[in-house]
Amino acid sequence: MKKSIVIFGASGDLTYRKLIPALYMNFRKRRLPADTQIIGFSRRPLSDDAFRDKMKEGLLAFVPAEFAQDEWESFARLLSYHPGDVEKLNDYLALAGKINSTDGEDADGLFYLAIAPKFYPIVVRKLDEARLLTPMGKVGYRRIVVEKPFGSDLQTAESLNDELLKVVSEDQIYRIDHYLGKETVQNILVLRFGNAIFEPLWNRNYIDHVQITVAETVGVEHRAEFYDQTGLLRDMFQNHVLQLLALVAMEPPVAIEANALRDEKVKVLRSIREIPEEMSSRFTVRGQYHGYRDEPGVNPHSETETFAAVQLFLDNWRWQGVPFYLRSGKMLKEKLTEIVIRFRRPPLQMFDVLSGVTELSTNHLSITIQPDEGIHLRFMTKVPDGGMMMRPAELDFHYSETFHETPIPESYERLLLDALNGDASLFARKDEIGLAWKFIDGIRRGWIGEAAPALQPYEQGSWGPPGADRLLWKDSRWWEQEDTLHRSEGDSGERTVP
Ligand SMILES: NC(=O)c1ccc[n+]([C@@H]2O[C@H](COP(=O)([O-])OP(=O)(O)OC[C@H]3O[C@@H](n4cnc5c(N)ncnc54)[C@H](OP(=O)(O)O)[C@@H]3O)[C@@H](O)[C@H]2O)c1
Repeated sequence: MKKSIVIFGASGDLTYRKLIPALYMNFRKRRLPADTQIIGFSRRPLSDDAFRDKMKEGLLAFVPAEFAQDEWESFARLLSYHPGDVEKLNDYLALAGKINSTDGEDADGLFYLAIAPKFYPIVVRKLDEARLLTPMGKVGYRRIVVEKPFGSDLQTAESLNDELLKVVSEDQIYRIDHYLGKETVQNILVLRFGNAIFEPLWNRNYIDHVQITVAETVGVEHRAEFYDQTGLLRDMFQNHVLQLLALVAMEPPVAIEANALRDEKVKVLRSIREIPEEMSSRFTVRGQYHGYRDEPGVNPHSETETFAAVQLFLDNWRWQGVPFYLRSGKMLKEKLTEIVIRFRRPPLQMFDVLSGVTELSTNHLSITIQPDEGIHLRFMTKVPDGGMMMRPAELDFHYSETFHETPIPESYERLLLDALNGDASLFARKDEIGLAWKFIDGIRRGWIGEAAPALQPYEQGSWGPPGADRLLWKDSRWWEQEDTLHRSEGDSGERTVP
């Protein structure tokens, strides 16, 4: 049976930088079925060869080390181009001829929506009108992969879901959050549920608080117009940050299987305590980097946030009373995605600590998603020849050292393969998306209410506005970042905690 992957938005950036390189890598690893065809669909009039040339250019730019001419020639034979407008039914009818197999049996079809969100309902409706969403043969599947953003608030996400669910069933929809395709994100599950030593400690009895940081060093780049209407909270928190929270906080699923996993994530999202509008300034911070308003495409009076920090609580048995501090921003000091689990102090401080490192005398576990993928466990150790003085030391695991023969694949590689294989574990379900939006909408209401926190400017290359530090200092805590986490030799770790 023939498998067809149709990419809507084939002449766009995502296809060029991510999708075709990911499909090529799967092909190279012999993971794509031999009878797969990949059809690019967009308006630009391109011949098959011109499309292939463009895609080859992308491979040379984004996976140069993996490019091999003979592999490329075989892969290129799977590629073709179908010029078409997503709003014109005839262009889908012509596509149907390419997808249906000539021997009377229908082919499997995966439709990837790498196109502006306003077109998602249109594409799905037209696919249905062209009878492309139901295989006519006895077997086979028809699936849709939907890119982010999935709605811009709860209402728009629900109406998009309604539109899609009019013509396909939930199990045909694969909503992408590419963060879930990252190996290190999946490793959170392995760390927690593939080991017996962490889980007994993974609760309010032993954990003081949790921090999640998703920091970028870049600004809005070519997305200024979209970004200025969206803001960081909707661009990063609703999906990536809350997905990380769900994986860290969830109960063990009964199996690593799509609905079991998603059921547990949904329970976490349901347990997030709403932040009342009048408490907005107490629990949330919004910032904007200096110079943002001068970026081309940004409103010079823009009030859009490029940084957000949020303190939240989960009202459930495991996490009651444990604060989760989440932050994300653009133009920050480092590119870093990290989860830090900070454990409680020992009940009695029996040993002296080196001058200035008192505040470090707790265990913590940091899970670095990027760029230095790995895990660090900090514990206290005796300083040699120093009486019973102690200081922190770290046990480090780096993916790049332990698995140096296996480079970490791009997340789209895994996600595309899972969608082809019908494994939806790493894709978001309708209720997950809805609950995430509900929480984000609540924060956004607080940001326009009477007690809204002021938009705080911050320096480019800093860790965000001062309010983000105060969010933790008010609780006598502080962000664990490179200056406390990865201290250089000879640095005592002394910090001023106001
Ligand atoms: N780029 C990324 O890294 C990234 C990351 C995450 C999510 N996404 C999401 O992925 C989607 C695509 O992003 P992108 O960056 O690739 O956008 P893009 O570079 O602007 O590409 C848009 C594509 O849509 C096609 N298109 C526009 N109108 C069309 C029509 N009426 N009929 C057929 N094709 C049409 C364009 O081709 P023609 O002009 O030739 O028709 C082009 O191929 C967006 O939803 C975005 O939010 C992108």
